[in-house]
Amino acid sequence: MSVSQFLNEKAEKTERALRDQFATWRGVPEVLHEAMAYSLFAGGKRLRPALVLGACEIIRDDDAPALPAACAIEMIHTYSLIHDDLPCMDDDDLRRGRPTLHKVHGDAIAVLAGDGLLTMAFDVVAQTGNLAVVRELAQAAGVTGMVGGQVLDMQSENRQLTLDELRRVHACKTGALIRVAARMGAILGGASQTQLEALTAYGEAIGLAFQIADDILDVVGDEANLGKRTGADDARNKSTYPALLGLDGARQRAKDTIDCAIDALAAFGEEANALRDLARFVVERNA
Ligand code: IPE
Ligand code: IPE
Ligand code: MG
Ligand code: MG
Ligand code: MG
Repeated sequence: MSVSQFLNEKAEKTERALRDQFATWRGVPEVLHEAMAYSLFAGGKRLRPALVLGACEIIRDDDAPALPAACAIEMIHTYSLIHDDLPCMDDDDLRRGRPTLHKVHGDAIAVLAGDGLLTMAFDVVAQTGNLAVVRELAQAAGVTGMVGGQVLDMQSENRQLTLDELRRVHACKTGALIRVAARMGAILGGASQTQLEALTAYGEAIGLAFQIADDILDVVGDEANLGKRTGADDARNKSTYPALLGLDGARQRAKDTIDCAIDALAAFGEEANALRDLARFVVERNA
């Protein structure tokens, strides 16, 4: 199976389950429902759900137990994008090929749609019945993970970070959710401690490489493919890998990081090929 087939299959499964979740919520104000759906069902690569489902599948050859976690992480990721685009943060007007949510519904509804997705994500992940997984997700999404990372990212504007500092920003703002995607899948699949550690190392490396690639695409990517504006980091004077290492240096760093991700899967056999291909996709993608 090609990586795009793998991603499509996992995306379709996740989207169906997300629509089923939406259908169970009664009495949601219409504009809020519409706003959440606008951002959530706008495409998106669905990389994090694919990681959740893929990690579960290599452990137990069945991804079904991880489906609520796959939905929850995409809800949290989408909320993070809605808030990231707000005028008080990155102030972007294009996302997933559409005008950003606040451009369509205004800042207040965009904030609340993000709040709604974040909160309901915990209703959804709780359906796994696995308290450890719920806590892992909270820690990765919250102040010790993505939210903390977004603060560090904002504080890095107009400053030159060291490479170590920048790695920490990336590990928090983007890496934490990607790492936990692999971990939740592994835990819900019933991984042994050794398997969990391997998938954690894999997720961590993918997470860092993913944000390096995002930074590179902000410089050389195509807006039509990406569905978001390029040149945004430079305009806001952000600390990024290309700014610190140059484009070639950043590309090399991304490749080396992906090699680490693939090495982490050494103890697995053919069942991990989809995750190996996914790792390569993370740095070879143009969207
Ligand atoms: C963009 O994430 C924001 C980052 C964390 C770099 P994605 O590139 O996964 O965005 P979608 O989900 O495909 O739109
Ligand atoms: C965002 O990083 C990370 C999030 C937690 C949303 P960026 O600000 O670089 O993401 P894009 O480029 O806007 O998608
Ligand atoms: Mg940002
Ligand atoms: Mg942004
Ligand atoms: Mg970016």
